[in-house]
Amino acid sequence: MAETIWWKRGIIYQIYPRSFQDSDDDGIGDLEGIRRRLDHPVWLGVDAIWISPIYPSPMADFGYDVADYCEVDPRFGTLAQFDALIADAHARGLRVILDFVPNHSSDQHPWFRESRSSTTNPKRDWYIWRDPAPDGGPPNNWLSQFGGSAWERDPATGQYYLHSFLKEQPDLNWRNPAVQEAMFQAMRFWLDRGVDGFRVDVIWLLIKDDQFRDNPPNPAWRPDERSVERLLQRYTADRPEVQDVVAAMRAVVDEYPDRVLIGEIYLPIERLVAFYGRDLKGAQLPFNFQLISTAWSAAAIAGLVRDYEAALPPGAWPNWVLGNHDQSRIATRLGGAQARVAAMLLLTLRGTPTLYYGDELGMVDVPIPPDRIQDPWAKNEPGLGLGRDPSRTPMPWDDQPNAGFSSAEPWLPLNPDHAQPNVARLQHDDRSILTLYRRLIDLRRRTPALSVGDVSEIRAIGNVLCFDRAEGAVRVLVFLNLGHEPADLPLPPDVRRARLVISTVRGGDGPDFTDRVTLRPDEGLACEVVDHG
Ligand code: NOJ
Ligand code: MG
Repeated sequence: MAETIWWKRGIIYQIYPRSFQDSDDDGIGDLEGIRRRLDHPVWLGVDAIWISPIYPSPMADFGYDVADYCEVDPRFGTLAQFDALIADAHARGLRVILDFVPNHSSDQHPWFRESRSSTTNPKRDWYIWRDPAPDGGPPNNWLSQFGGSAWERDPATGQYYLHSFLKEQPDLNWRNPAVQEAMFQAMRFWLDRGVDGFRVDVIWLLIKDDQFRDNPPNPAWRPDERSVERLLQRYTADRPEVQDVVAAMRAVVDEYPDRVLIGEIYLPIERLVAFYGRDLKGAQLPFNFQLISTAWSAAAIAGLVRDYEAALPPGAWPNWVLGNHDQSRIATRLGGAQARVAAMLLLTLRGTPTLYYGDELGMVDVPIPPDRIQDPWAKNEPGLGLGRDPSRTPMPWDDQPNAGFSSAEPWLPLNPDHAQPNVARLQHDDRSILTLYRRLIDLRRRTPALSVGDVSEIRAIGNVLCFDRAEGAVRVLVFLNLGHEPADLPLPPDVRRARLVISTVRGGDGPDFTDRVTLRPDEGLACEVVDHG
């Protein structure tokens, strides 16, 4: 198994750089802070860190508005500090994945400044410009993901430019070969510096309809939903031509050995799996966010795992995600006890797990007072509860002021609850969720059945989700009680004896299971088959 490539066998840990560790006392996390804290991902046992954007940016969308694709924002550090981080990470066996944001740049990017200067500027066609509609309004009905029209009229020329997100984030024109080449060069810039791959922002949105047709209304939309959902995103998302762009990006990544292309894609399973590409020459890992949107019930999740496994193209490698910087935290969504069960699910399913920083501490969404709201989306669509700040708060490290994150006031508040978990405390607590995460990761690493084995027998028995993982002669049975009542169920008929290897609630040993398995409330457990017939 040793030869299985790292991004299949391994575990990815997402770092939101503003919130991991500050090193220069400005209340904002930075690259040097990450470098100083590498002990943590190494101790945890993950294989790679993915760092959300660190490029120069006016921070209208906290780095997802890039003003230079080949530099580091001074708030995050310098290229030299980036190189030092890569060197240290690699020396410690950690890969480094960068966030790449190709759909849009900042409106302060020199390309856009040129583009907007006149209709004849050579960079005009690097962005998406259209004449106004006959009534002078926007060219069509497309909506921004962050609310309002996706078009902004620019007084310099009277034309509108497209922005799928903020008006400070104009969409690049990926139908223009010069744009493609410039972006591929930017990818090579970082690949040459040693990055191990990219997580590509909104990869499914890169190409829009070339006829600019209106999106049809969404009959299922309700007023408490994001306003962009008022329309079906037929002409603005998942256009067939996007697959050529993804394949071209993959070809760039494949110019270098052992790199990985991960795509951010919010689509239903059958459309998501198309992003593996023809002959698997698309994204190696099209992010699978289905656990974020699926109801937390054994029946729903068993169905999801079966559907996803069945939909994978032959040879495609699965992946699973519980949370990220755009979503409410898993411990808030499910509560503390089920967050432990979720950890076990993520780390025992077949497919590369991606963990969001702080979830290993059981971090919860932190309420943000109105005067400290940072997220532009929350400001654009107030009252819908869309703010992403609560899940982006600083990592609590220890009992120092500001939990050891910074000597200055952090850019977002820490959890005001003094009993909040922190790394130092949880590391020394044998029953903490952090200890559980580390044990699960360790178990996955040393058990090929869990890291690279097959999955089968995925089923729900009452509130219990069950599946088998197997590699060679080793077979591991996973039972996850998604309910708050005890549960008792039979071992599979061909299993005579199974030994407990891990539980989310009890210590490591206990009598072997023969015949039946009894689960405590909110308990996940895995056992290894020791006798079958
Ligand atoms: C997806 C990113 O994850 C999100 O944080 C960002 O606001 C949008 N893309 C726009 O880049
Ligand atoms: Mg700083």
